[in-house]
Amino acid sequence: MAASLETHWLQALIAALQGGQLALLHLLAALGLTESPYGQPAWPWPWRLSGENLLIDLGQARRAGIALIFGAAACLMLLAALLWRRARWYLIATTALVALAMPWPDPAAVLVPANPTSFHVAPSAVDAKSLVRGGWLYAQHCAACHGADLRGQGERAKSLAVWPPNLAGPLMWRRADGDLVWHVLHGVHDDRGHETMPGFHDTLSSDDAWALLDYLKVRAAGETLKSEGQWTMPVRVADTAVDCPRGARQLASWRGQRLRLYLPARPAAAAPMEDPRLVTVRVEPGAPPSPDGCVASAPEIAQTLAWVAGVNSPAGLQFIVDREGYLRARSSPDRATWSEGDLLCKSGGTAPTPAPPQDGLGALIARMDAEPVRFVKGGVVH
Ligand code: HEC
Repeated sequence: MAASLETHWLQALIAALQGGQLALLHLLAALGLTESPYGQPAWPWPWRLSGENLLIDLGQARRAGIALIFGAAACLMLLAALLWRRARWYLIATTALVALAMPWPDPAAVLVPANPTSFHVAPSAVDAKSLVRGGWLYAQHCAACHGADLRGQGERAKSLAVWPPNLAGPLMWRRADGDLVWHVLHGVHDDRGHETMPGFHDTLSSDDAWALLDYLKVRAAGETLKSEGQWTMPVRVADTAVDCPRGARQLASWRGQRLRLYLPARPAAAAPMEDPRLVTVRVEPGAPPSPDGCVASAPEIAQTLAWVAGVNSPAGLQFIVDREGYLRARSSPDRATWSEGDLLCKSGGTAPTPAPPQDGLGALIARMDAEPVRFVKGGVVH
């Protein structure tokens, strides 16, 4: 998606809607006016403001933006009225006029049904072990309806009143994470209140639900890679323990630096050449620590990389992770060098300024840095 001016102000608008509601929620929590199920404050209303529809309807987006500015001006005037006694009635009258003149957006365009957990965020960063646990839980509780490949064709699907949706596409990114968690724990209901998907709060914890969502996103990324040849939605690499010559650390501790993860095609296969532009980590299940470099030996990280690459065995693959921890590029096992075409997670941002001639990896890195992942949940992706 082109990073035009339109995208920028829309992103700012969506971020303002989200930020304003979050601030209100935290204020309510601080005043003790709302409960905190699952350790985060609960949204007390059945509706909330959402930017999703504004992306489709620019006219409404403009109205919402203007309403927000008018609203902020009205709040300032009311505050001034409190402090400035002589002008009080004048300011209150002006505020009322502003409210009347305000171009209110259509409520249907900005109000969406909300759940108590709508604004909840993942309690911890994505971790390879919990992701694999998510995969196990999915096979136990969800695959019968949603299907092993997430496409909604499980053996129980045809007996249901509503067909399960395809979870292998963008759905997992379109919805707010907190709403998805609520649906997994408390089920999905149709307009008449009939249950269309059962809730799992008796059997699963909220941590389990978050692990399931992480798993679904990683699998969905792998499926879109298979069907469309790219990661159409951004995913972060899962965290895992890494043994380095100078001691143990977590993969996430390199956030801020670019990473290259490589999975040797055979045990003890030669490592790729070190490169000062990247931190190189070997991913090999069960491998002992090595004096030559950093090794991630948990089988779970190899499994999550297989899922995200949409393959059964990731042996021979390499991945590049950007400074923000997003998986951006994957090489093919039969090629030792990189090229710009290996970038699988693109944002279509500003084209890199023509750089002096460089190698394939340099071109790839230049493009990756020029197109950072700008991710707004429920809004403009990439
Ligand atoms: C009995 C069959 C069934 C089982 C078991 C089941 N689902 Fe569903 N699921 C559905 C159906 C049907 C829908 C669509 C409901 C609708 O749109 O009204 C759905 C919808 C969803 C959605 C989309 C929700 C949204 O916000 O649109 C997610 C995510 C999901 N299921 C995840 C799970 C997970 C995770 C599990 C296992 C813990 C699970 N489901 C188990 C049938 C099932």
